Amino acid sequence: MNIKNKTYKSIVSGIGASLPQEVVTNKDLSMRMDTSEEWIEERTGIKERRIASKGETTSSLGTDAAQIAIDNSGLKNSDIDLIILATATPDNTFPASATLIQSSLGIERGYAYDMQAVCSGFVFAVEAADNAIKAGNIKNALVIGSETFSRILDWDDRATCVLFGDGAGAMVLSASSEDTNRGVLSNHLHSDGRYKDLLYVDGGPSTTNNVGYLRMDGKGVFKHAVQNLSSAIIEAIEYNNIAIEDIDWFVPHQANIRILEAVSKKVGLSRDKVIITVDKHANTSAASIPLALYDAVQKDKIKKGDLVLLEAMGGGFSWGSTLIRW
Ligand code: ACO
Repeated sequence: MNIKNKTYKSIVSGIGASLPQEVVTNKDLSMRMDTSEEWIEERTGIKERRIASKGETTSSLGTDAAQIAIDNSGLKNSDIDLIILATATPDNTFPASATLIQSSLGIERGYAYDMQAVCSGFVFAVEAADNAIKAGNIKNALVIGSETFSRILDWDDRATCVLFGDGAGAMVLSASSEDTNRGVLSNHLHSDGRYKDLLYVDGGPSTTNNVGYLRMDGKGVFKHAVQNLSSAIIEAIEYNNIAIEDIDWFVPHQANIRILEAVSKKVGLSRDKVIITVDKHANTSAASIPLALYDAVQKDKIKKGDLVLLEAMGGGFSWGSTLIRW
């Protein structure tokens, strides 16, 4: 089908999520290491997280979330033209885990690749899918965020291992030529590699020949996260010529409740408009936004026509926002 002669918008047509079976509470962690339920919850808002078992991988969780999103969209698997998997924890160094998901879904056409922007990956992937749709190159894109951060955590480092969890979320974006106000309204992306040493993994194929462990300067990340997330919100509002009150739902990357509270305060955002799932999922990196979106849709919070702002910040640093009329 030649769809190049029309103007297209990317409409959210489906959403899905998948979590590992095993729930690990703060109490569980306090029995394994020198930490406490209170310390973790007070500093982060996290109460529990899911941890992938041996058979659960980034691609298996991503496949489950993707199938739910496709079913939710009413499309067939074979209707998907593009799969972008946002992840920093692929099954293998290559091929792209997106191709593993493509194969698990029985899709034999289109193209698939991984997007590596760590915790900002989902927003970066939405931007790429949106551009492919707007260019008239594809009709239906599957955008997935899936992570198994438990595999790159140093379980002897209590300052980092208590913060993360595993999971996957997925969204189907479909081209629409209808005269509608729905769809992706704006994307703004940024990165600044000067801060790479504040949050990184100390291994990789080209340096150490192994996967490595996550390392973080918590205070440094906190400070930059509040600054960058706040500026990303203001950038989206100014670009779209709207007021902060016009946003119905704010769906941030779920890193830490104190970061979200500080950002809300800084930009004057009402707390009851912020979708929060960090208490149940901890920080699932690129999966956190689609997991939060799925949760909010399931709970009948986000509805058709709502104005929804996604925003994220992660290693690199990388950060950005996407504004969607749902
Ligand atoms: N349990 C108990 N005590 C702990 C733990 C733990 N799990 N971890 C660290 N501590 C101790 C430290 O050893 C330290 O003890 P000391 O004072 O005797 O030396 C004390 O707690 C305070 O440590 P700090 O690192 O100063 O704690 P802080 O108040 O900065 O909180 C935290 C740490 C929660 C990591 C905070 O810095 C933070 O939230 N940073 C943001 C990091 C983040 O969210 N990263 C996610 C990835 S980036 C992103 O997604 C945006």
